[in-house]
Amino acid sequence: MRIFERLDELYALGDRIGDSPEEDAAHDLAAGWFREAGLEVEVDAGRNLIGRTPGGGREIWTGSHLDTVPSGGRFDGALGVVGGLEAVERLGLPGLAVVVFRDEERGCAGSRARCTSGPLPDAFLELHIEQGPRLASAGVPLAVVSAIVGYSRQTVTITGRAGHAGTTPMADRDDALCAAAERVLAIRDAALAVPEAVATVGTLTVDPGGVNVIPGSVTFTVDVRAPDRARLDQLLAAMGLETGVGVEPSLMDASVLAATRSAIEELGLPVLELASGAGHDAGILATAGVPSGMLFVRSLNGGVSHSPDEHSSEEDVLLAVDALERSLARLAGA
Ligand code: HGY
Ligand code: MN
Ligand code: MN
Repeated sequence: MRIFERLDELYALGDRIGDSPEEDAAHDLAAGWFREAGLEVEVDAGRNLIGRTPGGGREIWTGSHLDTVPSGGRFDGALGVVGGLEAVERLGLPGLAVVVFRDEERGCAGSRARCTSGPLPDAFLELHIEQGPRLASAGVPLAVVSAIVGYSRQTVTITGRAGHAGTTPMADRDDALCAAAERVLAIRDAALAVPEAVATVGTLTVDPGGVNVIPGSVTFTVDVRAPDRARLDQLLAAMGLETGVGVEPSLMDASVLAATRSAIEELGLPVLELASGAGHDAGILATAGVPSGMLFVRSLNGGVSHSPDEHSSEEDVLLAVDALERSLARLAGA
């Protein structure tokens, strides 16, 4: 199946961290597929790749990102590009485009750049793997997305005093790593206290980093998420972090959601409506005023994502591309 062959081709490039040669290679690969499909290819000022059907007019966009996290999976981002191309190529209607946004994982640099430099489309519908267990638990292959979580990612540095691991009495230490460990557990406990909020310390570095040196300083990152700005700021304040910053929570557009819902129903499938705990380019566009929506396809393997074990079935992916094709046709007024 061409979609899975292309997902494998992209996966074979290895980690595609934002702004890396591997992300560039993925964009080049996609540009070749766009040209093969007869799309007019543009690279915008933010280095986003856009493939448009000939004929112009309104611009209904689909697509996603081709960058990945370290040791990510085959589907996150890539499915929205490869599946979006499949749907647009099948439809061939004027006014459709497949977009590949740059550097989504580290903060949506590409879609943010597009939203400040414009022009913006009339609507955006992003196909994405769910990256969670809810569709599998419900026994349902597809979902429409109602809202996308807001998040803030900040860096914390804890300063202690480096010293000799053997000659410094325990009572005389200012161990930065022990202090950081207490702060990390306090961050976890703060998130546990706020409904539907989450917080993750994903990276941590210890300096100077010697086996026999008391840590002098520790720097770690925090990824904090909540469904609305009030809970996000409540959590950031409780953690002693800066409030009022990060990516705003966003609502998906009612008409895009309705078009996607009816496309799924037309396939004779039940429709789940979910809020997304993952951030997406669709959230950036929605916040910029573009009527946006998302179509989720079931994650298998317990919903694991940001992992090589991320997976969805061929059957579900084919259903998702059918639903995407029908949704885009509706949005394009066909
Ligand atoms: O981290 C996220 O929520 C997304 O996968 N970029
Ligand atoms: Mn993604
Ligand atoms: Mn991701």
